[in-house]
Order: sequence, then structure tokens, then C-alpha cells
Amino acid sequence: MAVLTGAGVSAESGIPTFRGAGGLWEGFRPEELATPAAYARDPEKVWRWYAMRYTQVMAAEPNPAHLRLAELEQRKGDGFLLVTQNVDGLHLRAGSRRVVELHGSITRARCERCGHRQPLPPPDAFTPPPVCERCGGRMRPDVVWFGEFLDAELLARAERAFMTAEVALVIGTSAVVEPAASLGRAAKASGAYLIEINPEPTPLTPLADLSLRTSASEGLKTLLPTGS
Ligand code: OAD
Repeated sequence: MAVLTGAGVSAESGIPTFRGAGGLWEGFRPEELATPAAYARDPEKVWRWYAMRYTQVMAAEPNPAHLRLAELEQRKGDGFLLVTQNVDGLHLRAGSRRVVELHGSITRARCERCGHRQPLPPPDAFTPPPVCERCGGRMRPDVVWFGEFLDAELLARAERAFMTAEVALVIGTSAVVEPAASLGRAAKASGAYLIEINPEPTPLTPLADLSLRTSASEGLKTLLPTGS
């Protein structure tokens, strides 16, 4: 079984989604903050935005949808992979371990010089930009920006899981950002039973075998009643 999650899964933890009313991208263009060019132009500004979001996600808690997905992994074992576009680390904090963070993590920094990754200090002890503990270089947020490639190994692992899954579950994503958006389509083309949970229709909806037009936590409760 392969699962893909997007920002909608964390909405019930109080973390805004990217698109739609109140979304993170509303009011400014992504290229002002989430691109390599923006970072080259004004690293302090980009770090301020990421530090603000880091503080926000660390103050949030995993919600019942995150917890139920961690439980599902326990039940399914080896044949299970959770691929997330979210950078908030909430799946890991909920106990999921078979996780691919396709777009990186806002809770880590990556050295611009040597590539070393390290967790950020707690928000109240954090003054950006972080300095690499290995080489002393300046570090950037360990997230994938617009115009950057995803980690090839992580993407290959995600694609393998979706192309071999009997069931693919896509939750809380607008399914418009590639290559993540194609994972559900690839699963369906390979014969998987495709389930979508989203309060709104998406480009994936016409392909889904089952569409639950509801929140992530409600949809997962319907699919996986406790104790079943
Ligand atoms: P979006 O903001 O594009 O979409 C969020 C989806 O969640 C929408 O389809 C909503 O209908 C749905 N939604 C809202 N509340 C929900 C709830 N309670 N339960 C379930 N679904 C709900 O977020 P993503 O699809 O995750 O990339 O965006 C994909 C990528 O675009 C992000 O990872 C980010 C962004 O640019 C990078 O930063 C690289």
C-alpha cells in the first residue's frame, strides 16, 4: 500500500495549506520566497519566513489523520510507504517511520558548502542562518524550492512504491505539483485501486475508484475504523 499526503493532512493541525483562501501562497508569489534566486537575493528574508513557519509547525501537534496513518503502517508492515509533500515533520512526530519526505523538511538545514544536514535547534534558541557543525559553512533550509530537482533516490523509492501498490491512497493534496501529482496516476495505470480523500475535487478525482469528499481525519476514520 502506498500513501501520498499533502498540506490538507496538516490543515487540522492548524497549518495553512498552500493554495486557496488563507493559503500560504495567497498574497505573494512563491518565487519571492521559495526559489534559489530569492534566497541568493535575500537569504535573511527567506530564512525569516522559514523560521516563522518552523516556529508554527513546532507549536502544532499531529492530528488524528497523522496518528491513524502511523497506525496503518503498523498494521501493513513492510509493504507500506507513506510519501509526503509536507515539510512540517508531523508524520514523523506522529510515529510514522516508513516515510519519504519528498519536498524535504523545514525542521532541518543543509550546508550550502558541504551538503551536511542537521536539525534546527528548538525555535526559541534559533537565530537564522544556521552554521554547519561540520565545516562552518552557511546553511539553507533543507526543502525543495521551485525550479529545483527532487532527491532522485527518494523519488525513485516513491515511484516504485506507487507502481507496485495494490492500493494507493492520496490525501489532502491539490494534485497539481509535479512530480508528486503523477504518483496517483502511475499507481492507477499500474492497476492499483485508487482512493482519494479531499473535501474538494482535484485533477485526480476522475481517476479515483473511491473518492471521500471529506477531511483527512474523517476520511481515514471511515476507511479505517479503530480496531478493524
Ligand atoms: P495545496 O495547498 O495545493 O492543496 C491542499 C489540498 O488540501 C487542497 O486540495 C484542499 O482541498 C485539501 N484540504 C484542505 N483541508 C483539508 C482537510 N482538512 N483534509 C483533507 N484535505 C484538505 O497543498 P499541496 O497539494 O500539498 O511544494 O501542495 C503541493 C506542493 O505545493 C507543496 O508541497 C509545496 C507547494 O508549492 C513545495 O514547497 C515544493
